[in-house]
Amino acid sequence: MSPSKYKDYQILEEEGKEDTIRRTISPRSRHAFLLAFAFSVLLNVICLSYIALHWHGETTNSLSRFAQLPKQDGIHLTKTPFSSANDTVADAEWEALDTTPGTITLPDEFAQNHGIRTGMRFPWDESQGLYVIKGFHNLHCLKAIRRSFREYQQDIPQSQNAGHILHCLDNLRQSTMCTASDDLIPVVSNEVEAGLKMQCRSWEKLTTWALDPERHACYDYIDEYRHAKHEIERFGFCPESSRYYPNMKEYFDREGHQDPWT
Ligand SMILES: *[C@@H]1O[C@H](CO)[C@@H](O)[C@H](O)[C@H]1NC(C)=O
Repeated sequence: MSPSKYKDYQILEEEGKEDTIRRTISPRSRHAFLLAFAFSVLLNVICLSYIALHWHGETTNSLSRFAQLPKQDGIHLTKTPFSSANDTVADAEWEALDTTPGTITLPDEFAQNHGIRTGMRFPWDESQGLYVIKGFHNLHCLKAIRRSFREYQQDIPQSQNAGHILHCLDNLRQSTMCTASDDLIPVVSNEVEAGLKMQCRSWEKLTTWALDPERHACYDYIDEYRHAKHEIERFGFCPESSRYYPNMKEYFDREGHQDPWT
């Protein structure tokens, strides 16, 4: 037998003594052991990678970044009254979309912890910044673009400033390209919309998050299709129960109200 077939083991306490344990391991079983070990390591790596990827997906893909909203059950992309051929019906749907929850105030700490710039000061608590929630801003933009289109259709003068419309179109473009949605819309018998089931977050839950009295900036556009000359008037909607109410009241008691538009 060649020395390579033997492995010598010595029991530590008995080192130096004659008593040496000899074990014989055949090259074949050693090979099998190494193979099994390598396979086990590989399985562990696959398992851990899966967990890591899954975890990554849970925390950064499913939950929204600030309101922490999960993706919920799918809904089908379909025709809705928003695209009704009856203008009265469609107009009513679009006008009922409330964009006022979209302006909120947050402590600077929140912005710092989430790695975003701090917003300009909230008039009723100068230690806090102002933020507009993008989903609501997108809706605000769609409403402005639609309003402009409806005016064109009805051959009435444009109320929307061209600059605002162009800003909105570019904003929606950036938002769309940033999302880079790879949802697939199966083409089904010429009805392009019918086949897509979208994974969605709850708009209602986002609205609830935005309307938390601690967070909502007491902001109401009053008329979101107009440019406000006195923007401060739009912040005048704190309910009495809000902790911002006393500062708001103090300001308007002192300064009085102005026409927001002129
Ligand atoms: C459009 O819808 C409104 C409200 O439901 C209805 O009163 C009106 O008759 C409809 N118009 C047409 C042209 O169908």
